[in-house]
Amino acid sequence: MLFGKTIVVTGIASGIGARIGQLALALGADVVGLDVNAPASPTGEFVRLDIASAAEIEAVVKTLPARVDALCNVAGVSGVSGAQKTLAINFYGLRALTEAVAPRLREGGAIVNVASIAGYGWRANLERAKAFVAAPGFPDIAALLVEHNVPDGEGYPLSKELLLLWTQQAAHQPLFRGRGLRVNAVSPGPVTTPIFPEFRKLFGDPRVDDDIARVGRAGSAADIAPAALFLCSDGARWINGANLPVDGGLEASINATALGF
Ligand SMILES: NC(=O)c1ccc[n+]([C@@H]2O[C@H](COP(=O)([O-])OP(=O)(O)OC[C@H]3O[C@@H](n4cnc5c(N)ncnc54)[C@H](O)[C@@H]3O)[C@@H](O)[C@H]2O)c1
Repeated sequence: MLFGKTIVVTGIASGIGARIGQLALALGADVVGLDVNAPASPTGEFVRLDIASAAEIEAVVKTLPARVDALCNVAGVSGVSGAQKTLAINFYGLRALTEAVAPRLREGGAIVNVASIAGYGWRANLERAKAFVAAPGFPDIAALLVEHNVPDGEGYPLSKELLLLWTQQAAHQPLFRGRGLRVNAVSPGPVTTPIFPEFRKLFGDPRVDDDIARVGRAGSAADIAPAALFLCSDGARWINGANLPVDGGLEASINATALGF
């Protein structure tokens, strides 16, 4: 499915990104992994990148292969370090990297954003999300947070709401659509990776346990990787601007509660 393709994966050092990198290699792709931390064992080529740094993004993108088939945006933080940092990594850095990599993506290439069920509220918070997404580049995040009264603990869900909104917007922007680049998202529910205890701290055990109980078990990185790589593949060539929940049915269960069916 991915034989001979070149795939750039952020967050390669741990959890879902590591698993995506391993599976892509096994399926015959060349993998370039980007992460602020070096992986314990190498998966393809590794380049260190703090995705929250505009200068690092500019320098690292110059070192990437001239022709890339897909970019998997997986790197992210849980939100325990505060809303400003969380938005810088999970949304503004991700978007800046994607815009910088776009010219290297071959025509018909793919971008896959790892969002989350935590971004479920993007429609309910649409005006706020539109305002954050409308700010270009790396804006003054602290000022935006004050302007929109965002408590520090809401940085993570907000970052994923922005990512889900931007995924749909980007799918129709000339930078991407003009060259047939598809922009999609996958939204995991709870996944047992090293970040997971921080989500328990952020959302509280009752909420996390309820999410798990709705679908019978937490997910694993191995549950997410095949879906992300499918969206990278030409098999997904007619899928664009979509969000694929990869959560064992959690979103459907939350919809059932919210919509009363
Ligand atoms: N684990 C879950 O329950 C869950 C659920 C939904 C969505 N997600 C999302 O999946 C993605 C991957 O999370 P995970 O569960 O594999 O967590 P993880 O902590 O195992 O992996 C995250 C990776 O991102 C890297 N990273 C963090 N900050 C970075 C930065 N500034 N620059 C570059 N790399 C950076 C880390 O070094 C790490 O390798 C995240 O975007 C997360 O929000 C996770």
